[in-house]
Amino acid sequence: MKFGYFDDSNREYVITQPDTPLPWINYLGCQAYFGIISNTAGGYSFYRDARLRRLTRYRYNNVPMDFGGRYIYLRDDESKEFWSPSWQPTRHNLKDYTCRHGMGYTVIGSSYSGIEAHTRYFVPLDENLEIWQLTVTNKRAAKASISAFSSIEFCLWDAQDDATNFQRNFNTGQVEVEDGVIYHKTEYRERRNHFAYFACSEPSTGFDTQREAFLGPYRSWDNPATVEAGQLTNSIAHGWSPIGAHQVKLDLAPGETRQIVFVLGYHENPAAEKFDPPNSQTINKKLVKPTIAKYLDTKNADAAFEQLRQYWDSLLGIFQVSTPDIHTNRMVNIWNAYQCMATFNMSRSASLYESGIGRGLGFRDSNQDLLGFVHMAPARARERILDLAATQLPTGGTYHQYQPLTKRGNNDIGGGFNDDPHWLIIGVSAYLKETGDWSILDEPVQYDNEPGSEQPLYEHLQRSFNYTLERLGPHGLPLIGRADWNDCLNLNCFSDTPGQSFQTTTNKDGKVAESVFIAGLFVHAGRELAAIADHRGLGAEAASYLAETVKMESVILEHGWDGEWFLRAYNDFGAKIGSKECEEGKIFIESNGYCTLAGIGLKDGKAAKALAAVGEHLATQHGIVVQQPAYTRYYIEMGEISSYPPGYKENAGIFCHVNPWIMIGETRVGHGDLAHDYYSRINPSAREAISDLHRCEPYVYAQMIAGKDAPTFGEAKNSWLTGTAAWNYYAIVQWILGIRTSLGGLQIAPVIPKNWPGFTATRIYRGVVYKISIVRNGDGNSIALTVDGASIEGNIVSSPTDSRKEVAVKGILS
Ligand code: BGC
Ligand code: NOJ
Repeated sequence: MKFGYFDDSNREYVITQPDTPLPWINYLGCQAYFGIISNTAGGYSFYRDARLRRLTRYRYNNVPMDFGGRYIYLRDDESKEFWSPSWQPTRHNLKDYTCRHGMGYTVIGSSYSGIEAHTRYFVPLDENLEIWQLTVTNKRAAKASISAFSSIEFCLWDAQDDATNFQRNFNTGQVEVEDGVIYHKTEYRERRNHFAYFACSEPSTGFDTQREAFLGPYRSWDNPATVEAGQLTNSIAHGWSPIGAHQVKLDLAPGETRQIVFVLGYHENPAAEKFDPPNSQTINKKLVKPTIAKYLDTKNADAAFEQLRQYWDSLLGIFQVSTPDIHTNRMVNIWNAYQCMATFNMSRSASLYESGIGRGLGFRDSNQDLLGFVHMAPARARERILDLAATQLPTGGTYHQYQPLTKRGNNDIGGGFNDDPHWLIIGVSAYLKETGDWSILDEPVQYDNEPGSEQPLYEHLQRSFNYTLERLGPHGLPLIGRADWNDCLNLNCFSDTPGQSFQTTTNKDGKVAESVFIAGLFVHAGRELAAIADHRGLGAEAASYLAETVKMESVILEHGWDGEWFLRAYNDFGAKIGSKECEEGKIFIESNGYCTLAGIGLKDGKAAKALAAVGEHLATQHGIVVQQPAYTRYYIEMGEISSYPPGYKENAGIFCHVNPWIMIGETRVGHGDLAHDYYSRINPSAREAISDLHRCEPYVYAQMIAGKDAPTFGEAKNSWLTGTAAWNYYAIVQWILGIRTSLGGLQIAPVIPKNWPGFTATRIYRGVVYKISIVRNGDGNSIALTVDGASIEGNIVSSPTDSRKEVAVKGILS
C-alpha cells in the first residue's frame, strides 16, 4: 500500500494521505539554520546545533505522535469552525490533502469547506531564517471571512535543559513584541547575544506569546481556546512557556487568493550592540529589521525560493544517470544524493529517531559520509576532513565522536574503537580521487586539538595505519578494542550492571579479542594509503604498506577463514565468533562484506564462496541481515549485540549500511545481476508499494529493517541519518554503474544486470563534463572505451590535456 507518489520531474515526493504509518519528514536548511518538518507540519528548528541552539519545541515520542510544529489554523469567522490545512494539529477530514517534500522545502495544503490553503516552508540560502508562505483561496461562490493564525512554541535554547529543568525554566522566559514582530529573548538579559523572531507580512489583529493564554488551561494544540473564540489575547510571556502566534483577518471574495508570509528566524547581535538604547534591556533590532522586511515581501521570498531550486539543480546536476530501472534513477538522481547531503549536514543529530541532544559527530560515520557527498561539496568535505583529523590522538587512535560546535573530541565516550583511524584514510582517499587536491595532505593539523602539535595531514594517515600494526592480537589479526564498525560487538566490555551504557563504560584493555572486519578494512585502507604514497613519490614507503597488506591478507586467509566464509572475530577467550562452530552467530555480514569488497580471496575463490554463503544464510527478500542465527539470550562476553531481541538492530536486523559491502563484493566477482538485486531489495523507492509494512519514508533509506527473526520482519526504523545513504550511493554509482573516481581520473567499470541494454550518465568531474554512454553487446563485464571517438587503453579516462570542457565517453560491454 502507498501513501503518495514520486513526482520525479519536480523532484518531490507527494504524500496524499496525512496519517502515514510514521511521520514522514524532510529537512529545511543546508548551511547553518536547519529544521525538520513532517508531512503534517510537525518538527522544529535550530541554529547549527540541535541541542544548544534550539529555536522551537518538539515533543519526541509523544502521544499523539509528532507534536510541536509550524502550525497554521484557519477559522471561518461566520460558522466559527476552525481547522489546520496541514491536518495536524486539529486532524479534520480534509479534501485534497497533499504534502510535497522537495529539495530543501516542503509544501503542505488541503481544502476544507471551500477554502483552499497551502503553505510553502523553506530556508533561503545564506540566511538564518525560515519562510512560511501561506496561500489561501476562496473557492466558494460567496465571500468568506477567514481568520488565519500562525503558531510556534519557543524552546529555551538548550533542548536538554528545556525538557528537564522546570524549576528554573518556568521563570526565565521573556519576549518583546514590536510592530507585530514577536521576539523571543530568554536569557538575552545575561550571557546570550542571540534571540529568535517571528514576523508576519500582514497587519495582525492580535498576537499571543504566552502558551497558556493561547491554548487556554488544560487544552492542547488541537483546540486552542483563542482560535475557537476567534480572537488572540495579546499576551506577553513572563516565564512559563513563550510562544509566537499571529492572527490575520482575510475577507475573500469568491475566487480570491491572498498570500501571507511568516518569517521565523535567529539573530546574533554584536555583544557591544545588544541593547537599544544602550543602557536599556531592550533588544537592539536595527540590524535584523532589514532582513525581516526583505523576506516578508513575497517577491523576495519567491526569488529566494528560486535560488534554492538552482542550488539543488547544480548540486544534483553533478551526476545524473538514465538506466532501465526507475528506482535506480530516482534514488541516484534525486533522493539518495539529497539524503547524503542531509547526513553530511546533520551527521546523526536531528531526525525522528535522533533527538538532537544525543551524539556528536561520529569519527567513522563522518568519514564514511564523505563517500556520498564529496562530489557535491568538495570544499566542505575538505573542512570536515581537517576537523576530524584534528581530533585524532597522538597514538593514531581517535575520539569516537566530536562536538560540531566546539570541534573537539568528546570525552564522555573517548576512543579505543579500533576501526576508527582507518576511516580517515578512506575519507581522505575519496576526497583526493574526487578533487585531485593534493595540497590537503600538507595541511598542518593538530592532534587532540592541542596547539603546537600540528603535523601534515599525511602524517595523520601514517599514524592511522600504524595504529593497527601496533595493536595486533595472538593470531596477527587487529585487536578489536571497544568495538569495530559494529558498535555493539563489545568483546572487552563484560557488562552486568543494568542500564550501564555499553558505549561509554570502561572496558578492559583486552589483548586477545581480534576483529577480522578490521583486518579487511586495514588491507583496503593500506592499499589506498600505498597509492597515495606512491603518488607523492614515496615508492619505498608505498611498498612497505603493500607488504603489510599482503601479510594481513594471508593472516586473514589462514586465521580468518572458516571453511565457507570469513570469520567475524575472536573473543576475549580466543574463541571464534561467526563460525560454524558457534551455537548462534555462525556467520556475519561485516567481515564477509568488507573482505570481499577489498578483493580478499578473489584469486583462490574464497571471495565467491563467502558471498555464496551470505546469499544462502543471510539474504532475505527485505535485505541482508547482520548475522545468523540471531542471539536468543544475553551473552556477557558479546555485549550490546545480544541485548537486542532477535531480528532488531545489530542482532540480526537488516543493517542497510553494510548491505552495499556485499553489493560491491558481488561486483568484484562479476555478478551484476545479484549486486543490483541486493541493491533493489533495500532501495526505498522499490519498496514504496509495501509502505504499510516498511512504514518509514519511501524516499530515503533507513538504518535498519527488521530481520527475519523479528515478528515485524520488513519494518524499517531510523530513517535519514545513517551511513546507509553514502554507502548505497557509492555502491550503485561507483561499483554497479561503475562510474568510479580514481587518483588518475574517471574510471568506467560497470557491472550491471545482464538484461540492461546499457545506460547513459552525465558526470561533472574536475571541471569537465563527461557524457557517458554504455551499451551492452554481450553478457560480460569487459569494457572497450572511446573518448571523443578515439579508443583508449584500459578503463581510466584521464582529464583532457587540452581546453576541452566536455567529452563524450562511449563504452561497449561484452
Ligand atoms: C546502536 C548502534 C549505535 C550505538 C552508538 C547502539 O545502541 O545499536 O547502532 O551505533 O548505539 O550510539
Ligand atoms: C550506527 C553508528 O552510527 C555507526 O557508527 C555504526 O557503525 C553502526 N551503528 C553499527 O553499529
